[in-house]
Amino acid sequence: MAGEPTRRAADAANGHGPGSRLRIRTVEIRPDAVVLIDQRVLPHEEKYVRCATWQELAQRIVDMTVRGAPALGVAAAGALALAARQAAAVGADLPAVRDALEEAAAGLAATRPTAVNISWAIGEMRKVWQQTSTPEAAEPQALAAALFTRAQQIHDDDIERCLRIGAHGAGLLKSGDTILTHCNAGALATAGYGTALGVVRAAFARYEHIDVLVDETRPWLQGARLTAWELQVEGIPYRLITDSMAGHYIARGDVQAILVGADRIAANGDAANKIGTYTLSVLAKEHTVPFYVAAPLSTVDRSHMTGATIPIEERAQDEVTSFAGVPTAPPGARAGNPAFDVTPAANITAIVTEVGVLRAPYGDALRAACQQGTCIS
Ligand code: MRU
Repeated sequence: MAGEPTRRAADAANGHGPGSRLRIRTVEIRPDAVVLIDQRVLPHEEKYVRCATWQELAQRIVDMTVRGAPALGVAAAGALALAARQAAAVGADLPAVRDALEEAAAGLAATRPTAVNISWAIGEMRKVWQQTSTPEAAEPQALAAALFTRAQQIHDDDIERCLRIGAHGAGLLKSGDTILTHCNAGALATAGYGTALGVVRAAFARYEHIDVLVDETRPWLQGARLTAWELQVEGIPYRLITDSMAGHYIARGDVQAILVGADRIAANGDAANKIGTYTLSVLAKEHTVPFYVAAPLSTVDRSHMTGATIPIEERAQDEVTSFAGVPTAPPGARAGNPAFDVTPAANITAIVTEVGVLRAPYGDALRAACQQGTCIS
């Protein structure tokens, strides 16, 4: 995306600029590697992992070193740039490089099924490697270089989208609001700044008096480990609560807005997000609290008419039967572990995107928004 806010603004806003307090480099795309902050060990350790091959990066997506739908899309773009470089390095000709890219795309698409941003990024990168009449299509090294450039653009573009989401979303809040959020939809879930937490960041900068209730988000604890860390480093006031406490605070009138991200938004506005989001949306409706979904258009998948057909990732049972590696259930206990649920459009007050705040009917609003930006359709 061209124009303001610029990359410099994005860096400063995300804490990458001089004098800033937060220095999160969620995904860094280098010519010879993709570097990830290791989200499995935060907040205890700030460690970075270097991936020199697309296969390593795919494994890092599976094991949650990198997570959060937009960050996964950026990582997938970086992985495809690495795949082209790997193939070119062993002397593959152009058709063989394209075959290697299709193989990598299939491998990446199979890593995490719910976050559509992976497929979106593959589609964007495929547009580059399917071109046959441009200079970059002339030889393997040039194609690899073009894919690296496109992956970096997707990275920078994601930060700019988040800044715009933040600016649009902050207008929905007011000074003194307490916002409840679930999972982590922050800088760590994107190339930087965040979607739902981007709105919180923008609101904090605008109003200063903002408080955040952070759901710990069992079983993986994205809220406790990642959102709390991001907010703490930025000095944004927050209180960590267990997921089961949310209803208590909402019923007491202590929450003025609920703000969450999304992994995939269907054509009718139904939104898949971290397990527990649906429950919050029902509470919001019952207590007439606004329920906002913040997401870039790269999360919109209009090929699904409703959320009913969105694939839901089922994760390992031991995430539920243990806590921080310590068993919490009898040996042999069976567990269910769907990583996401679907919030019906009827429970969503607005969808905050980089092109503006969308209101129901979402079918029309999303169709119009997708004409201004790329969505899967
Ligand atoms: O399993 P995760 O941690 O990848 O799930 C992440 C979420 O559910 C986020 O809310 C979503 O991806 C939006 S991130 C901007």
